[in-house]
Amino acid sequence: MLMTVDVVKYFELSMASLRIVLIVSIVCISAITLAAGARKQSEVISDICSSSFTEGQYDSRDVYYRRVRDPNKHISARLVRYFRFGGILQAISEETEIPRDNLVTGGASQFQDQSSGLGQAVHAAHIIRVGSINSKLGKKNQSLNRALQNYIGHTQNVLRAANAWHGVGGDIDKYQSNQLGVLATVDFGSTLETNDRRTVETLITDFRNIIDKYVRDGTHTSDEKKILDADKVIVYCVVPLMLHEEGKAGYDMVKSGEFVTKYDK
Ligand SMILES: *[C@@H]1O[C@H](CO)[C@@H](O)[C@H](O)[C@H]1NC(C)=O
Repeated sequence: MLMTVDVVKYFELSMASLRIVLIVSIVCISAITLAAGARKQSEVISDICSSSFTEGQYDSRDVYYRRVRDPNKHISARLVRYFRFGGILQAISEETEIPRDNLVTGGASQFQDQSSGLGQAVHAAHIIRVGSINSKLGKKNQSLNRALQNYIGHTQNVLRAANAWHGVGGDIDKYQSNQLGVLATVDFGSTLETNDRRTVETLITDFRNIIDKYVRDGTHTSDEKKILDADKVIVYCVVPLMLHEEGKAGYDMVKSGEFVTKYDK
């Protein structure tokens, strides 16, 4: 069961919204409850994609973390960060000898760094939404395990429509879980080869198709239409090389020890 809307947010929702959810599906409610029990708090850590905290620009670190992102950039980050994540998984696999496609499962998030703190209209939305981490990782290397927990627990605050369970956010969640096996075939440790280029192109096309469904073909609801602007969703201008470099950066980050230094908090 995949979830778009963050579980923690659900418990902050009014009873009215909860009733709507109930009507939609009793099954989903039980899945949410289950996952909420399982989800662990991960640390709030600034990272590259979300830009780093600059003193003076925001009143406090707390205000900084609660700022609401441009939905278009949030959606783009979900593709770009997915490749960085692919590189991270490859390097962790090499270090621990746990197969790449065995490190994380698809499905509902188990980790979350924060709730939005801004009421119903704003969600703390995961950028990478995948399920659990292989328990072997914790036994092999605690630091890498904690760093990975924090990495996938990271959220950005966005307007609800960019994260809607039944909308574009949900489809991206499914994409991120369903493509884990494909992502694990790309070699991020060296230069982009022809076969990998084709794979990356296909991953980009599939992602764009999701966005197109909401931005262009009119199946979106009016509030989704309002918040997503095709020209501003950066995924329309990304090329395979850039995404591969993103993956390489993730790979190198683990190999150099920077990943653990930055995320094992
Ligand atoms: C865990 O991984 C980090 C980063 O690769 C490495 O520096 C460290 O030595 C590893 N620790 C163990 C116990 O293998």
